[in-house]
Order: sequence, then C-alpha cells, then structure tokens
Amino acid sequence: MDKLIIEGGVPLRGSVRISGAKNAALPILFGALLHAGKSNISNLPALQDVATTLHLLRNLGIEFDKAGDVVALDASMLNSAKAPYELVRKMRASVLCLGPLLARNGFARVSLPGGCAIGARPIEQHLQGLEAMGAHITLDKGYVRAEAPEGGLQGCRYVFDMVTVGGTENLLMAATLANGTTVLENAAQEPEIVDLARALASMGAQIEGAGTSVITVTGQPRLGPMTHRVMPDRIEAGTYAAAAAITKGDVLLEGAELEHLDAVISKFGRAGVEVRREGDGLRVRHHGELHPVDVETQPFPGFPTDMQAQFMALMCVAEGSSTITEAIFENRFMHVPELNRMGADIKIKGRTAFIRGVEKLNGASVMATDLRASATLVISGLAAEGMTEVRRIYHLDRGYETIEKKLQGLGANVKRVPEDEPGIDTIP
Ligand code: EPU
Repeated sequence: MDKLIIEGGVPLRGSVRISGAKNAALPILFGALLHAGKSNISNLPALQDVATTLHLLRNLGIEFDKAGDVVALDASMLNSAKAPYELVRKMRASVLCLGPLLARNGFARVSLPGGCAIGARPIEQHLQGLEAMGAHITLDKGYVRAEAPEGGLQGCRYVFDMVTVGGTENLLMAATLANGTTVLENAAQEPEIVDLARALASMGAQIEGAGTSVITVTGQPRLGPMTHRVMPDRIEAGTYAAAAAITKGDVLLEGAELEHLDAVISKFGRAGVEVRREGDGLRVRHHGELHPVDVETQPFPGFPTDMQAQFMALMCVAEGSSTITEAIFENRFMHVPELNRMGADIKIKGRTAFIRGVEKLNGASVMATDLRASATLVISGLAAEGMTEVRRIYHLDRGYETIEKKLQGLGANVKRVPEDEPGIDTIP
C-alpha cells in the first residue's frame, strides 16, 4: 500500500487532461453484456474500479483486450451469471451487472453489496423496478437471485421512490431488451445516465428522455455491438478545479465540460473563483480571498455529493463561516475529523457541517475511508503549511488516474511512497 507526501504552498499552474469518467465507464462496461458479440469502448480511465469491473466481466465469461484507454470486448459467451461477494464488496457498482444479465440471460445471482463507508446504500429500488418488469427476486445467503418470466422481462411504468443513479442505470439497461415499452419516472438526470444511454443507443437501443426525469425505452429483441467513447470525468475536473482554487493557482482542465459542472461552477463563482470555458476545456483561476458559500448536495442538476468534500476544503480557508449540508448520503463527513486535525474549524450537527474559515491549514498525517474524502485531504495538503501525509491512498486509485503525476505536472510538490516508509510524524 502507498501513501502520498505533499509539501503544501505551491500554486498549481499549467494544464491537466481530464480522464474518462469512472461513474460513466462502469455502467457502460456492464452495458456491453447486453450484446452477444463484440463491443469497443474508448477513453476508459486507468482506475482500480475499471480493473475490478473487467475482472468481474472476465468471471462471467467475457473476453477482452485492453490497449491504453481502449477496450475491445467479446461477450459472445456467458459462462456464469454470478457476481460473487468478493468482487461486489470491493466495488458496489458491481450490482450494475444485474439488469443486463437478467435481460440477456434470464437469470442472475448477484451478491448484495451491504453498506459502505458513506452510508447504508440499499438497492431495493433496483430490485422493485426489476420486479415491476416481471422478474422473480429472492434473497438467499446474501445473494440476490433474479429470474425473468417465461418470454423475458416485460416493459412497465416504474416510478422511483427517490432519485437513484445506479437504480436508473440498472433498469435502463434491463429495459433495452424487455418486451414492449418501459417508462422510468423520477429517473436520475446525471450526465453519466446520458452517456450510458448514448452507449446503449450505439447498440441499437431505443431510448428517449435520458437526462430528464422521465426516460422511455422501447425494448428490442436484440442489440448490436457497442462503440462508445466515455465522457470526461466531471468530478475529477471539479477536484482539480478545487485544487487550483485553494492554492491560488491558474489551471486549464483539458476536456472538461461546462454543462456538466454548472452547479459547482456557480458555487465556485460565489466563492470568488473564476471558471471559464477555454478551448476544449475550462480555465480555473483564483487569487485573493475565498468567500464563504453555503452548499447543499442534490441530485443533478444540483450540487453533486461527489464534490461536497472537495468544496469543504475551500470553505475551511474562506474568510468567514459557511454551512455544507449533505442530503444524499447519511455518513459522508468522514473527512471532517481529519480536516480538523489539519487545523480546520468544523462542527457537524446532523447532516450539516458548520465551517468557520481559518487563516491556514497545517500539514499533518491523515487518512480517509472513501474516495472523495481522500481527495479532499490531498487538496488540503496542497494548500497547507508544511508537509502532509495522506495514507491509505488505494481509495484515490479507485477514482483518480495517476493523481500524483497529474499534480506534479501542475507543479505540486507531491510524491507517492510505500506506506511503511518513515512518515512525517517526527513528534516524539
Ligand atoms: N438509495 C436507496 N435505495 C436504492 C438506491 C439508492 O435508498 O435502491 C439511496 C442511497 O442510499 C443514497 C441515495 O439513494 O442515499 C442515492 O444513491 P444512488 O443510487 O444515486 O447512488 P449510487 O448509484 O450507489 C452513484 C455513484 C456515486 C455517487 C452517487 C450519487 C457510481 C458508480 N457511483 O452511486 O459515486 O455519489 O451515485 O450521485 O456511479 C463516487 O464516485 O465517489 C461515488 C460514491
């Protein structure tokens, strides 16, 4: 296991290429299961979660060839319909194989993911939706066992009880091969849903309304090969934007899309950070003080929960007090005690963090138990006085492609070293 050592205080400057989006790539890879043949997906980010997904696909019998950021898959043969616990517990998004497997194969056995560091994260909406399509679902020894009715899944109208990204993706994929029309209401509107719908459309799927709260899918008897280029990662872009802002830097985010980041850019703007379109990307610039801004996370087009922790780092050093309310996950403030160890002044009451800006953060040895919380500690370390050691960075490797190299390219003083190398904690 590795850790990052960061010497703070260097304003980030230059340009960084934004990689393909993790949260689009994972469902799209599972979508390739819907066609009994070849598919080609490009702009895949080099991430641990992508490797886990390919591992699961290989377990199911799918063959693939990966060269750089392109993967050629051959899903002609399915020799299993099981997603085992040891893979699902590593990566919850593994449950996204349920819809495609059931639709193509008529049967699937997928381990229940259980809770994770940021919340309980149940999947009853995925299961109820599939039941509405006629699937027979039972729970057995920690596994979901799903069987399609004789003649296959049936189109239906399903209204989600809450907005769920994964639930929308699982049902969208299942509906592409169902008999008749499926209407998904209160559907998630995230750009990753639109990207998945585009990937499925390249296979011949008939989908209308992706990116709105009502998605209509006309089921097809079969789909063809998928050819798709994964969208840029809006959360990676937002994370580098936060890093640029907190270090009072000037960074071009190559390939980042303005439309995907409207809510984030609007809050950055109120904090005094300039973000504008330039070439095929976004330029982020900041100097002077950061202003305090209140934020509440919401499903898209609201402020994304996946940017909550990173924005909090900025508010820690803003000139005044702000609040950040986490409305999506019940336990997504694990970065708070670590930020406080770096000198931040944050108190949590229920789902709201009350932040009083401090003049500066101080380097410390810190660690986090989820991806975005870890990213925040890196951003904070870049701005802190002295050295910061971010431990357990396997979380970062799940979602940020070569983070230390990208940061080095922007001038940051950061290196990756083995976890057991002597740390920065020299206090006797
Ligand atoms: N929920 C239920 N029941 C369900 C489904 C969801 O109660 O059946 C609840 C969840 O517990 C949560 C809320 O609904 O409180 C939203 O969950 P959602 O299903 O939208 O989340 P997800 O699909 O599991 C994806 C991303 C997350 C991101 C969320 C919200 C992927 C692979 N993961 O998760 O990304 O935070 O949507 O936008 O797309 C990350 O990248 O760091 C990450 C956690």
